Amino acid sequence: MKQRSSTLETMLAQAGCRGDDRTGAVSMPIYQSATFVHAGLGQSTGFDYSRTANPTRSMLEKTLARADGGDGAFAFASGLAAIDAVLHLLQTGEQMVVTEDLYGGTYRLFEQVAKRRGVEPVYVDTSDTEAVRCALDQPRVRLLFVESPTNPLLKVADLRALAALARDRGVWTVADNTFLTPCGQRPLELGADLVVYSASKYLSGHNDVVAGAVITGTPELTERIGFVQNAIGAIAGPMDAWLILRGLKTLPIRMARQQENAHAIATWLSAHPRVERVFYPGLPGHPGRAILEREQLGAGAMCAFTVSAADRVPRILEKVETFLFAESLGGVESLITYPLVQTHADMDPGVLARLGINDRLLRLSLGVEQVDDLIADLEQVL
Ligand SMILES: Cc1ncc(COP(=O)(O)O)c(C=O)c1O
Repeated sequence: MKQRSSTLETMLAQAGCRGDDRTGAVSMPIYQSATFVHAGLGQSTGFDYSRTANPTRSMLEKTLARADGGDGAFAFASGLAAIDAVLHLLQTGEQMVVTEDLYGGTYRLFEQVAKRRGVEPVYVDTSDTEAVRCALDQPRVRLLFVESPTNPLLKVADLRALAALARDRGVWTVADNTFLTPCGQRPLELGADLVVYSASKYLSGHNDVVAGAVITGTPELTERIGFVQNAIGAIAGPMDAWLILRGLKTLPIRMARQQENAHAIATWLSAHPRVERVFYPGLPGHPGRAILEREQLGAGAMCAFTVSAADRVPRILEKVETFLFAESLGGVESLITYPLVQTHADMDPGVLARLGINDRLLRLSLGVEQVDDLIADLEQVL
């Protein structure tokens, strides 16, 4: 069945609706099949074995590629599996320039896995375009990995400027767009070559899936990442692919509501006497605000803050009633996370201290609840 070109919202709302010509199923079926029968030698329906391609996963991948304006997309078993697939573009001895303040699991992958394969990460503050320019001038750099906004300090990079610098030097730009999604930031349109996601977050949106995705900007990268996906096999299963597909249908409205809540909470926290500092790119005075207005479609729904004393933190985490004390982010349920001991526990203590990821920093992922309930909950713990 044909589908006309449409806006992102319309395309996502109808994701998978025309995916099953035989039955006309409006909800894309979950093809829970490992293998597919051949009518004869050399004949295939296009599906042979589900590691290589599965109809439910293919529908998800087609939707993700369209959402980001990519040439192709690949769904993986986790966000880290997706990032690892991208690392396979690099050879031993090559370097990658990386956002210094990034998700702790990505840091662990780079430090403890990539390095052992001979790929060397060089960490820089990617909100400082000049610092990135200097780092890119090293001769062995082949890849620039940018997380923006960063996790957990919400620093914003000028992705358009960074991608142009990288392109001039023959370096691939990879954007981790987990925090903003295609609704909030369009990395390929800003010049990036690849986009990665933890689909466990906003794309699926209900804290019920662990998955990831890579979106490729060119046919060459589509071929290379497709090869890695099949050769290594860290694929998203059909059920998880379906859950993400279903989540994507409401992504734009979830993001809009979650962002609205984040804005209100960040503004409220900024005026609270027990809060020392608030990190949210949508607040006036945030250093990334101008870039945000130029390049992004919203500030996202993540915010972090420091309280004045570390001994207040355990009480806050234990006493919240509406917020859930859990790691992860991006779901309809609001979560409160303690980055130092949860998401960033594997980062080097010296690096944590230098970046300001300290024992007074808390991170919030705002969900879709009524904002007054969220504020009342923070009020009673603070
Ligand atoms: C920005 C970012 N990228 C990647 C990941 C890794 O994703 P996953 O947990 O799905 O492997 C996370 C997880 O929290 C994340 O926050």
